[in-house]
Amino acid sequence: MTARSTRTPDALMRPEVLAQPAYQVADATGLIKLDAMENPHPWPGALEDAWLEALRDPQLNRYPDAQARDLAEQVRAAHGVPEAAGLMFGNGSDELIQILVTAIAGSGRPVMAPEPTFVMYGVLARALGVRFVGVPLNADFTLDLAAMREAMAEHNPAVVFLAYPNNPTGTLDDAATVEAVVDANPGVTVVDEAYAPFAAHSFLSRVGADDGLMVMRTVSKLGLAGARLGYLAGTPAWIDALDRLRLPYNINTLTQRSVAFALEHREALDAQARGVIDERDRLGERLAATTGVEQVFPSQANFILFRVREGHGHASFAALRDAGILIKDVGRAHPLLADCLRVTVGRPDENDAFLAALGQALST
Ligand SMILES: Cc1ncc(COP(=O)(O)O)c(C=O)c1O
Repeated sequence: MTARSTRTPDALMRPEVLAQPAYQVADATGLIKLDAMENPHPWPGALEDAWLEALRDPQLNRYPDAQARDLAEQVRAAHGVPEAAGLMFGNGSDELIQILVTAIAGSGRPVMAPEPTFVMYGVLARALGVRFVGVPLNADFTLDLAAMREAMAEHNPAVVFLAYPNNPTGTLDDAATVEAVVDANPGVTVVDEAYAPFAAHSFLSRVGADDGLMVMRTVSKLGLAGARLGYLAGTPAWIDALDRLRLPYNINTLTQRSVAFALEHREALDAQARGVIDERDRLGERLAATTGVEQVFPSQANFILFRVREGHGHASFAALRDAGILIKDVGRAHPLLADCLRVTVGRPDENDAFLAALGQALST
C-alpha cells in the first residue's frame, strides 16, 4: 500500500505555494468599511428596480453567452475601447492577471513590476512557478525609470505590470514615463487601470496596434465589486492567444446582464465617481491638517495613502478598528511603506467618522 505521506499537500505541492498564506480578507462585520476601494454608494432605488426587471427570465438553466457579446458591445461603447483592439473578460481582473502569467509561464522569462504595488502580480507569479522581479519605486512613489530600464535589460521580462494609478500609493505617473517603460520593455507592458474612474489619464485609446501594450480594467471600483468583472484590451493577436487559456463560460449570466445594464445607465455610476473624487480631495486636505499625520500622498484613485508618526502606524490602525473603522495597514508590506495606512474614500459621514477617530488615535 502507498505510504500516506506521498498523498499530502506537502508532498505534492510546491514549497513556495505552501509558504504563501491564502489571500486574507479582513472581517468587516459591524465596521465602517474603508479598506477595499469599494464605491460606498448603493444604486439609486429606481435604478435598482429597473435592474431587477432586466434580470427577469435569467435562463439560468442555460450556460452563459461564452463570448459575452452584449456586454462586450456595452463595454466598448461605454469606455471607448478602440475598434482595432481585441477584448477579453475575466472573473475580476485577478483572473486576467492569472491568465497572463499562465500564458508566459513556459517562456523562462520573469514577471516584473515596480514595488510596492498590487500584490496579486507577485502572488500569482509565485503560484504559477514564474520568477517575479520587483523594482523599488522612488521614495515619493513615482516610477524609478532608470532602475526599471536597468532591470528590464538585465532580466528580460515577459510581462511588466504597471498599476496606473498604483495601489497602494495612488500615484499616477507621467504618461511619458509609462511610455518609456513600454518602449524599453522587451516583453509586453500591461497597464492596469483598475482606478481609471478616478484618474486624469488613460492609455486605453492607445491599445490595439502595438503588441507591447495592453490595458486592463475592472468594474469593481466603479461600483460593481460584487459582480466580479475585469477586462483586458490588446492586439487581436494577443487576445486570441490568451483566449485559449480562458475557462469556458468564465463570466456568468447574472454578471453579464448586470454589468451591461449598469453601463447602459452609467451616468449614475459616473456621478458617484465624481462625488468620490470631490470627497477624496476634501479627505486629503483634512488628513494633511491632522496632527500626527506626517505625509499624505497625492492620489488619483479612490483611496489615500498617508504616513503617521514613526512607530504609530499599526497602533493607529488598531485604534481605528477598535473605534469601528476598518482601513488597511500597509506598513509592513514594503520597507518604503513604513507607518503608512491606506484609507478608501467613503461617504462623507464615514470619512468624518474616520477623521475623528484618527485624530483621537494620534492624540494619545
Ligand atoms: C491595481 C489593481 N488591479 C486589479 C485589482 C483587482 O481587481 P478585481 O476586483 O477586478 O479583481 C485591484 C484590486 O484592488 C487593484 O488594486
